[in-house]
Amino acid sequence: MGMVEIPEFVDREREKRELKTILSGRPNFVYFVYGPINSGKTALLMKVAEELEESENIIVFYINFRGRDVETIDDLIKVLFRVKRGRVSEDTKEFIREVLKSGAKVLHKLKGIPIPENMFDLLFRRADKVEDIFAYLEEYFEEVRGEGYQPVLILDEMQTIKGVINATGRMVIERLFNFMIRLTKEKHLCHSLCATSDCLFIEDVYNNARLEGRAKYLLVDDFDKETAFRVYEEFGVEDKELVWDYIGGKIGDIISLFEEKKKGYSEKEALGEMLEIEGRKIKWMFRMIEEGEKEGPEVESIKEALKVFLDREWVREEDIKGRVFKFLIEENILFYNPVKGTVRPQSRLLWKAIKEVLNDKS
Ligand SMILES: Nc1ncnc2c1ncn2[C@@H]1O[C@H](COP(=O)(O)OP(=O)(O)O)[C@@H](O)[C@H]1O
Ligand SMILES: [Mg+2]
Repeated sequence: MGMVEIPEFVDREREKRELKTILSGRPNFVYFVYGPINSGKTALLMKVAEELEESENIIVFYINFRGRDVETIDDLIKVLFRVKRGRVSEDTKEFIREVLKSGAKVLHKLKGIPIPENMFDLLFRRADKVEDIFAYLEEYFEEVRGEGYQPVLILDEMQTIKGVINATGRMVIERLFNFMIRLTKEKHLCHSLCATSDCLFIEDVYNNARLEGRAKYLLVDDFDKETAFRVYEEFGVEDKELVWDYIGGKIGDIISLFEEKKKGYSEKEALGEMLEIEGRKIKWMFRMIEEGEKEGPEVESIKEALKVFLDREWVREEDIKGRVFKFLIEENILFYNPVKGTVRPQSRLLWKAIKEVLNDKS
């Protein structure tokens, strides 16, 4: 293999254009950026943020809930904000001026909304009052606008906070969505994007937060075959048909393959290994259920349900209603597309692994 460097960012021209058009216009809707795991949602959003901040007066506030233990309001506040310590202005207007001056272009890399320590302490002490946080943020975004910048709020892996309730027992996530509706549809103040690969979650909030007519969806899917073959080219793939057969157009898997090859494995060896790992994950889940370590439907009923994927990659949601499918979607085995109403394995590799496990008679 030649010395191919890992390409920094490939393709997504259409998605980039679409997002830039949205973000250059007036905030009107809450956007759900959805798609299977490792399809490139986060990378796309970061890329667009970077490019837009170079050409336009846009400020992106990026918050990623993944890997953060968010169970209470206090946790949520800690993730939402980035405390600026030391000598900063205590006046919101002054503070925002300072923030904008000192690095408008790198805000999204900071992961969190910069806020003076004293203000953070104040909000934190009144942590049960979610409304105070939203009121503060609204004022904050208004100040950003006043300085001639268009704020953009990106919440990534937002399903992480679906269980958080406030002191009065209300779901914070619904309040957060109502707040985002206020920022967009009502006040046209700030763009709001939520990225997630948990689409059952989208459907839940959609119904509960009365999002009808106020939200739109943007799919960031794995690459189709034609695009994938072009991407393979940039990754120095040798046997394109073989690679497509195993991992298809999932960028995360294309990168894994690339890393394995760098260690000296052939494509065939690397793909075989990746498939085996995927198969072991399924079998492990079965074992955990059988041993009572994990709650879930009977293993036999899961296997029975998965049989629909033996001869096709996706099915319509009405073909598969039921507890088993909900479980498999929640376990990130299956990806549910709420717009198309279809369900399929989260990756082509997983699809292949499912078929192997089902055919394994040993
Ligand atoms: N267009 C792209 N070009 C190159 N690498 C990408 C691209 N999109 C995603 N990646 C890489 O693929 C992996 C998975 O992408 P990520 O954005 O984390 O997926 P998601 O957020 O959908 O789960 C990451 O390592 C990311 O850097
Ligand atoms: Mg992501």
